[in-house]
Amino acid sequence: MRMVIEDAVREAGTDPIFAVAQKASEAKEKYGKENVIDSTLGALMDDEGNLVTFNEVYNTLKNLPDDKIAAYADIGGIEEFLEAVPEACFRDQRPDAYIKAVATPGGTGAVRNAIANYSNYGDKILIPDWHWAPYRTIADEHKRGYQLFSLFNDEGRFNLESYKKEFKKLLNDQGRILTILNTPAHNPTGFTINDDEWDKIIEFWIEEAKNNPDKQIVVLNDIAYVDFAKEGSRKFMKKLEHLPENILPLYAFSASKGYTMYGLRNGALICAAPTQEIADEFEASAIYSNRANWSNGTRGAMQVLADIINDPTSYERFLSEQTANREMLRKRGDALVEECKNVGLNICEYDDGFFMSIPVDNPQEITEALYDDNIFLIALSGGIRVALCAVSEDKCRKIPKAVKEAIDKRDNKYES
Ligand SMILES: Cc1ncc(COP(=O)(O)O)c(C=O)c1O
Repeated sequence: MRMVIEDAVREAGTDPIFAVAQKASEAKEKYGKENVIDSTLGALMDDEGNLVTFNEVYNTLKNLPDDKIAAYADIGGIEEFLEAVPEACFRDQRPDAYIKAVATPGGTGAVRNAIANYSNYGDKILIPDWHWAPYRTIADEHKRGYQLFSLFNDEGRFNLESYKKEFKKLLNDQGRILTILNTPAHNPTGFTINDDEWDKIIEFWIEEAKNNPDKQIVVLNDIAYVDFAKEGSRKFMKKLEHLPENILPLYAFSASKGYTMYGLRNGALICAAPTQEIADEFEASAIYSNRANWSNGTRGAMQVLADIINDPTSYERFLSEQTANREMLRKRGDALVEECKNVGLNICEYDDGFFMSIPVDNPQEITEALYDDNIFLIALSGGIRVALCAVSEDKCRKIPKAVKEAIDKRDNKYES
């Protein structure tokens, strides 16, 4: 007899990424960490494999009076945070729109509230074929489905044709659409939609909005990695202003990576609404969702972000730490891309960020073969994910050759 309801029956077992990370940890114990490439988890590590934690963030946290950590936050988030978080999100690219923020536990909470409040039961949300898997989990738990579009065209750039096709179909079938774009520095590929591509996407949305004035187009920009992308990669935010009233841009802001606050669970869902009414409606729904799901967020974490942003000296110190780490990641990315070229390994377009992906058939077979070389990568459905956030530049240089050899060996085995 089952005690859980039919819909809540789930497969048991550890998350596959954490299972591989566990294997990597065991190998490090056995062979020494310098001899193991643990490129599994999506958290920024220094070259010795220790978690990077920004001093400015943790000094500010440790200097908070106890009550500012312990007290409940307001359900929508503390006021200082709600005023500061649009700066963290938009910086100098703040759109001319009605902006409101509601605090959430990380970007995950923001994605959850967007799905719950901007898609109907049974609707499909539109996501790319390469995507962060929890979009599907969240949609599923909330009785929504998903529709994939191909992220890349033959040139390895944004596949506008595929996007348009699936978008039009959903808008027509459902009467509304929630589309999630994870850019800049997409997980799992590191792809960033460029400004020309943005112009074409926006032009398409405007055309669809005008042709379907009674249908709602909601665009969720998942910007979890924005602070690890190149200067200028917030430019699209300013483009998303003065749009038709039936287009609503939302932002899933996460302090996990950009502020090294992973476990502090700090984020926000932010709207850049075309009217005050749409912004007020957004806020009321999001606050209600907070109350129903987690009540309120981590007060101390909100206070830290607000205190840093409101103090120019502290913000300056914080930004310089962030920049130094972005540079470190950049060097790792450059090293990986260069070595992939050198060994002739085909990768998805990588622009920035924590991850890079190698499209390959049957990726599990390859990642398992690499365990023998003490290299631990993640098999996705369409390829292999390399978490360059987690390994030194030196180790990044070793990965492409090993992967290429494993692929060649496998392919030769089947040919012979
Ligand atoms: C693409 C993407 N979106 C959102 C998130 C949300 O992260 P968090 O809930 O930790 O802020 C992550 C974290 O891994 C991510 O990779």
